Amino acid sequence: MRRVKIHLIAAARPNFMKVAPLYHALKGEKWCCPMIVHTGQHYDPEMSDSFFADLNLPQPDFSLEVGSGTHAEQTAGVMVAYEKVCLTQRTDWVIVVGDVNSTMACAITAKKLCIPVAHLEAGLRSRDMSMPEEINRLVTDAISDILWTPSPDADENLLKEGVAPGKIVRVGNIMIDSYEIMREQIEADPIIETLKLPHHGYGVITLHRPVNVDDENTLKSLINVLIEASKIMPLIFPVHPRTRHSMEKYKLLDAVNDATGLYVGEPMGYISFMCLVSKSKFVISDSGGIQEETTYLNIPCLTLRSNTERPITLTHGTNKLVDQHTLLDNIDNIIKGKWKHGARPDFWDGHTASRVVKSLRMMVPK
Ligand code: UD1
Repeated sequence: MRRVKIHLIAAARPNFMKVAPLYHALKGEKWCCPMIVHTGQHYDPEMSDSFFADLNLPQPDFSLEVGSGTHAEQTAGVMVAYEKVCLTQRTDWVIVVGDVNSTMACAITAKKLCIPVAHLEAGLRSRDMSMPEEINRLVTDAISDILWTPSPDADENLLKEGVAPGKIVRVGNIMIDSYEIMREQIEADPIIETLKLPHHGYGVITLHRPVNVDDENTLKSLINVLIEASKIMPLIFPVHPRTRHSMEKYKLLDAVNDATGLYVGEPMGYISFMCLVSKSKFVISDSGGIQEETTYLNIPCLTLRSNTERPITLTHGTNKLVDQHTLLDNIDNIIKGKWKHGARPDFWDGHTASRVVKSLRMMVPK
């Protein structure tokens, strides 16, 4: 029997932990041959290579090396490069994950070559069309043949948009699979001792959304609030390249380095970062995935955004949307123990990859 060829599109930091469990699960199947396509949207060693190492991923089968650029440049670059791959070495299926530019670019490219596309983490909606990710989600879901969703709200969104019910399969949250696969190593990681941090006696910050870090005044006042917050409890801040560029451009690095409770560093690998989060008192972030990981770990999450495409983390989990003005009061509440306990949503259980494999197998002729 000929093995079914499957391209898994990896591209940017949040995608690697979505691709890894699925790659490992598909690799163990006799009927298929999974291949990793790295578009190169993230390329710094600490934004890419360290995740491949931490998650035991092999070198990509195809490296497109597209790199940074405007949205049009990056999206177009991925489409042109990926089309060449598909034309020379045709695949039977393309699996895209998440909502980054490469997700949409590869979905469009494959679909126009009549290659079936499956989207893992389908159906999430922020209803905020100023977010590039919302556009990527809408386009990708509109053309995908299978929509693997993480939560009931995602199913409902797709049904309201007119997606045929037969295309929607609730599989759960794939990132929890990564956490569970790596749990032993995460728990044993020495990062807390290395940084001399008290267990559950510090906060973690991540920031990279254009709405928070691209504008000088917004970033400046946000950094001032974070410096204030660091006087209440030590804060660890691994800085994303986009944010570091802005901090350099607006000359904010000195103020941050002078703040004694604020530890600024490079982006971290998956294992150390998840260890840091799992032993923290709270997380301040504008990330998508961290809202979910903190809900799973029952760690309070203060999300610096006015909306979220992951509302289940608000209704069931430990997440709350905050702004610069409400951040300090919320930290105070967490420290006083006034915070909700999260419940884990259904199917956020470490077995999402096997549900995806089962669903895909049903689409492939025996
Ligand atoms: C991208 C995703 C976002 C995701 C985020 C996680 C889109 C539209 N955005 O945003 O959804 O949450 O990744 O990190 O797809 N840079 C480097 N080294 C790298 C990568 C980027 O220095 O390895 C710099 C470049 O100057 C680049 C900037 O960071 O212009 C932003 O990178 P980009 O991939 O465009 O967007 P992110 O902000 O990372």
